[in-house]
Amino acid sequence: MINLLIMGKPGAGKGTQSTKLLKHYQLTHISTGNIYRDEIKKGSAIGIEAKKYLDQGNLVPDKMTNDIVWEILKQKNYPDGFMLDGYPRTRTQAEALDQMLARLNIGLTAVINVEVKDEVLLHRMAGRRVCPNCGHTYHTENHPPKLEGVCDHCGQGLIQRPDDLEESVMNRLAIYNEKTKPLLDYYSEKGLLTVIDGEQSTNKVFQDIIKILGEK
Ligand code: AP5
Repeated sequence: MINLLIMGKPGAGKGTQSTKLLKHYQLTHISTGNIYRDEIKKGSAIGIEAKKYLDQGNLVPDKMTNDIVWEILKQKNYPDGFMLDGYPRTRTQAEALDQMLARLNIGLTAVINVEVKDEVLLHRMAGRRVCPNCGHTYHTENHPPKLEGVCDHCGQGLIQRPDDLEESVMNRLAIYNEKTKPLLDYYSEKGLLTVIDGEQSTNKVFQDIIKILGEK
């Protein structure tokens, strides 16, 4: 069983690596960003509330996010383990996660930080295109779809995320530096953190992560 936490600045490649890791290790994906985007798509009460924060690149309040993660974790529906992606993002969330895991009597196997310089991130987010139907992610230059603007997997037209527009991206990076970056020390002190060079090819990043977690 692997209970993994993947961290990194916005656009570092967490989602890209998650897709590969979930398949390799059969992990249950817990991505708070994906959960919020799905709720927005459904037009649910959570989605309507979350949209106010996501579009500007701000963090959704801790209590709402912690409650969502607890609802998932407490069901214990992750036979081979789980992968947390985009959570926790604040000290309050990290402490809440510790309490949840203690209540369930489980621990984190590893925390991986995918490290990428800001100028590389800005280029990645400017070129990112996503499928609003199946969630696959592309990049106009690094990872283009076979047919421009169309998802390879389901044929839906690709879109740019509203929070990938420049103003939101700058805000997300500033929030990351203030609220999320300190968590690297938090997990380093617990002896759980490994830093991976996220500027390598997606396959090389994946191989480096597997070296840490071990072959299945
Ligand atoms: P979330 O969805 O978690 O967004 P994020 O952390 O900003 O991360 P991204 O999805 O932007 O990037 P990524 O690291 O997954 O990169 P990707 O693989 O797509 O959160 C969104 C929002 O939800 C938050 O701003 C907040 O409002 C809210 N939220 C979520 N969790 C919350 C929480 N815990 N508390 C409060 N609010 C919360 O890659 C990016 C691009 O680069 C792609 O185009 C990809 O093709 C390309 N790429 C990836 N890897 C490589 C590589 N190695 N080489 C070249 N290109 C690459």
